[in-house]
Amino acid sequence: MEICIDAPAKINLHLQVGRKREDGYHDLLSVFHLVDLADTLRVEKSGPAGEIAVHGPFDFPVKDNLIHKAAERYFSGYRLNTGKEPEAGVEVRCTKRIPDGGGLGGGSSDAAAALKALSLLFPVSEPERLLRESALAVGSDVPFFLSTPAALAEGRGELLRPLPPLKGYALLLLFPGLKISTPAAYRAVDRRREKGAAEKTRFCAEELESGWEKLMRSGSLYNDFTPAVEEFFPGVEGFLRELREAGAVFAEMSGSGSTIFAIFHKNSDAERASRLFLERGWGAHTGKMLARPIEPVYNEPII
Ligand code: C5P
Repeated sequence: MEICIDAPAKINLHLQVGRKREDGYHDLLSVFHLVDLADTLRVEKSGPAGEIAVHGPFDFPVKDNLIHKAAERYFSGYRLNTGKEPEAGVEVRCTKRIPDGGGLGGGSSDAAAALKALSLLFPVSEPERLLRESALAVGSDVPFFLSTPAALAEGRGELLRPLPPLKGYALLLLFPGLKISTPAAYRAVDRRREKGAAEKTRFCAEELESGWEKLMRSGSLYNDFTPAVEEFFPGVEGFLRELREAGAVFAEMSGSGSTIFAIFHKNSDAERASRLFLERGWGAHTGKMLARPIEPVYNEPII
């Protein structure tokens, strides 16, 4: 049996970086939302027990691949849970569409999708628990991709509260072709704070009751990484202004960058704004927010 599963990207509609904790991570307050740009994973049992093979257009060592890490974690949890070796190995083929290192959680989503597929191929008695624990061990953003299309995330990113999805808007993702290292972006936020940069007002989830449209226009949603990464991504705040002037209801950078997103009422406005950036050599994706069911797992005949 081969399982084919989509691994969608996310954007952060809000991303507030809190204090640095004793474990080296920062507390977060963030609004995650799935979007319709996705990688695809094909996952099947293959090879000797517990062996992991991952294929895809990756330019880093396989051991650093989050799909590989997820499978290692899953298999060690499987051994503890069942007291036996998995009856085979696993082979994963990944078709990448989400740019790497762009703040869209592509690697994290691939890992979550691999975990979901593994839990179907190698079932255990408490799958939710094993998935949650393996996800957080692989990365802070991974647990979100196991859950709902939109969520408020706290802690390292693992304390999740489902939110109503953002329906009926057009989405524009813009890729300037820069890779920003996540740890370097966190260090840039810390440096700004040490220099005395004012902290913004803390976002309050109750504000969501007034609805997404009002919230997006209120100035309550922001990303603490945006002013901090100016040194790696010159002009980022100017690009966001430009998108708002082009009619975006809301525009921000996603995660620690460098992808910028903008939300419009009309597809035609998103398309028009995308052309402004395509002319400068940027990449672009126009699409939608995602409000699909929690388990996007399906089988496809192999042709
Ligand atoms: O958990 P993940 O591997 O995605 O995190 C990568 C790096 O980002 C961490 O090593 C840490 O430097 C930083 N990070 C952080 N606080 C978080 C998430 C990540 O400082 N909540």
